Amino acid sequence: MVKTIELVNGKVRMLDQSRLPLEVRYIDCTDYKMVAEGIKKLWIRGAPAIGIAAAMGVAIGAQEIKAKDFEEFSKGLEPIFSTIISTRPTAVNIEWAINRLKKLLISNKELRIEKLKALLIEEANNILAEDIEVNKAIGRFGAQFIKDGDTIITHCNAGSLATGGYGTATAPMRVAKEQGKKIRVFADETRPVLQGARLTAWELMQDGIDVTLITDNSAGALMKMGEINLAIVGTDRTAANGDVANKIGTYSLAVLCKEHSIPFYVAAPTSSIDFSISSGELIPIEERGSREVTHIWDCQIAPDGVKVKNLAFDVTPAKYVTGIITEKGVFSPEDLHKLKDMR
Ligand code: MRU
Repeated sequence: MVKTIELVNGKVRMLDQSRLPLEVRYIDCTDYKMVAEGIKKLWIRGAPAIGIAAAMGVAIGAQEIKAKDFEEFSKGLEPIFSTIISTRPTAVNIEWAINRLKKLLISNKELRIEKLKALLIEEANNILAEDIEVNKAIGRFGAQFIKDGDTIITHCNAGSLATGGYGTATAPMRVAKEQGKKIRVFADETRPVLQGARLTAWELMQDGIDVTLITDNSAGALMKMGEINLAIVGTDRTAANGDVANKIGTYSLAVLCKEHSIPFYVAAPTSSIDFSISSGELIPIEERGSREVTHIWDCQIAPDGVKVKNLAFDVTPAKYVTGIITEKGVFSPEDLHKLKDMR
């Protein structure tokens, strides 16, 4: 399995996902601003992965702060937090990771600054390691819904590349395969950034999972032909009522699943569930630049000057969601509140 991100000698090393699969190259981010740039430009993407990048960015940024006491250190951290939080608004994992670091600092405020700096590095590494374990647990809970011979559709990339490793939506597929079930995956290409074509297809092929790339608009026809048994997608932020924000096109896929009585599951680490938001209407939806739609890399595919609307995410109402697979178990949207008490 490919390594998405790691801390190496005070630098944040990330696989540049914007060039995959044509080029496999790693970028070493030498400061927090470069980490923020990487998140914005999609060198790294996927909710859990950008949460990890945020924690690592803060950790390396903190090393440069010159402070005599906790108050000065906290002041020095503020621009780092705000720069990183401003990169991408929809995935809650960035805020989640930063809040975790803030809590850690507050509960250790009596320590020397050098010790606090070391703690931040350690915690960023913990967030990465825990993420992989969380995904494996999602895999164990989710595999029960996959039968031998199933064909699963997924949207965007909620695989290893979107996480510390193992993936969220791909985790049940990996476990099902380990259990000896014969499965097939349809990967939606996922316009406009093509995370399905460029990333999901690439990583599942590398891991020996039978994957077939389809255009986004093929899903309905394939469902009607009885070719699809199950859908599993990831999420950037799931609200307390079970409304799910994920890559644009997820909502259409969920509606199609309902029409064809196909179970629609969301793989959601608890780090991506936002209990402070009562419904999906309150989730901020990122809009990205027009060039992502008018061009594929440097190739122009639309007229000069055409108006473009480029929503990066949509919200699937809870009524379309069969179950939310977390590392703590599987919940129906109505039962998601039970998870809050378990956290
Ligand atoms: O714009 P992206 O590529 O960051 O969007 C990613 C997704 O929509 C994923 O499905 C989501 O972050 C879950 S990743 C485990």
